[in-house]
Amino acid sequence: MIRPTRRSLLKGGLAAAGSVLLLAGCGDGNTRNSYSTVGTLDFSNPLRIPPLARSTRSADGARVFELAATEGSTQFLPGTSTPTWGYNGSYLGPTIRAARGDKVRLTVVNRLPETTSVHWHGMHLPAAMDGGPHQPVEPGAAWTPEWVLDQPAATLWYHPHPHGATEQQVNRGLAGLFLVDDPDAAPEGLPHSYGRDDIPVIVQDRSFAKDGSLTNGPRGLTGLTGNSILVNGTWNPHRRVETEAVRLRLLNASSARSYSFGFDDGRSFAVIASDGGLLAAPAGVHRVLLSPGERAEAVVRFSPGERVELRAFPHQLGMSEALDNGAGGNDTLSILQFRAAARLSPSPELPANLGGPGEPDLSAIAATRTFILNGTQINGRQLDHNRIDTVVGAGTTEIWNVSNTHNQPHNFHIHDVRFRILDINGAAPPPELAGLKDTVFLPVRASARLAVPFGRYADAAAPYMYHCHLLWHEDSGMMGQFTVVEPGQAGSEPPAAAGHSH
Ligand code: C2O
Ligand code: CU
Ligand code: CU
Repeated sequence: MIRPTRRSLLKGGLAAAGSVLLLAGCGDGNTRNSYSTVGTLDFSNPLRIPPLARSTRSADGARVFELAATEGSTQFLPGTSTPTWGYNGSYLGPTIRAARGDKVRLTVVNRLPETTSVHWHGMHLPAAMDGGPHQPVEPGAAWTPEWVLDQPAATLWYHPHPHGATEQQVNRGLAGLFLVDDPDAAPEGLPHSYGRDDIPVIVQDRSFAKDGSLTNGPRGLTGLTGNSILVNGTWNPHRRVETEAVRLRLLNASSARSYSFGFDDGRSFAVIASDGGLLAAPAGVHRVLLSPGERAEAVVRFSPGERVELRAFPHQLGMSEALDNGAGGNDTLSILQFRAAARLSPSPELPANLGGPGEPDLSAIAATRTFILNGTQINGRQLDHNRIDTVVGAGTTEIWNVSNTHNQPHNFHIHDVRFRILDINGAAPPPELAGLKDTVFLPVRASARLAVPFGRYADAAAPYMYHCHLLWHEDSGMMGQFTVVEPGQAGSEPPAAAGHSH
């Protein structure tokens, strides 16, 4: 399945090149040759599109969704079935879709043999509904959070968040999309027909054992990296294109791999949205880089009859070349082939203005804080369920300076909020990172200054989390807890622990 790149052929010689898979599966997993899967796939499988979740309307007007986490088996590879987990199915889950202003109620039923939780990544909601490690769902139990959607239209997702087991549960297949619509603020001219010209692209790397089961390796410094790409749970996928323009809702739902997405012919495309919603204007790019947990919406134009491949290209993680290889940074991966029909229905030009946010409002900054990422610690500490690390005031805006001082890549995700990147490594963010974000990628020694407006749900007893979204780091405790309290009470936190250790 794997073909070595010329670079690894030259470096490692033919003998090593022939055993890339073996190399990747043994040793400490931290180094291996980079590889390319280009030319190894025939894209024969039609891309699966997760079904839209059904909902019912309860007497109090809530839209009620049900998610049952279950064990099952899935056929990814020809003639082989793989034991997997999924929501309402054997792998991944349905796409939940609801509109701003809707009251949603989700019944999560756990039919797995172990404790899980379901976190609504990117959602503004009360901390008690957040689905982090504080809201475990035991085997056989159900949990029914509810809240009113109150945030811009965006591509969000849901996934398990039980402390110490998140990587394993996501690896088995637990994840799904949660699309928020905002009909009152929807610009004209964006593709928006789900499964037709508006398609989910959930990208995950997996490794399969000979018997078809998913393996837990290799785990390098950054976590699991697989050598086979699944898109929406489809291996070797293609997608028929019937319209001139297609909107791709890209989600990196992998454990540790980051992807620099682009096309094999180098065409440009328009990024229209980041994690938390639409940008101010379409950003023309050739590549968009997503670390685990990040999303981007892209609009791509096609010509009749063509075949074009979405790929992930090498990009710098900032480590040595050997370690970047081990973490997948130098791999070239075929992701998804598009097959355009001989006749395409016309699509409108993109609007020049998408209605996303302008300059962030920095007129009232309540506090400035520093978060140092190093090892699997934040400010020298690992997660302690009994410690609230940060207390913020409801409705206030803070500046968070997040620095990766470690010689490994990390990222930083904050629950409940949509922040703005003011600068990254001292420079203004590129346009595709200048909108609403909830996760920021920080390769080795990178730093970012974030403007973080906190929500209005105050609850001194229930914390939200911030953490590295490389799932193995998260499971290892690279996570902190914050509470949102009435603004007058926000001074009550312990002094920052930066510079201290353990
Ligand atoms: Cu996807 Cu705590 O997050
Ligand atoms: Cu989250
Ligand atoms: Cu990390």
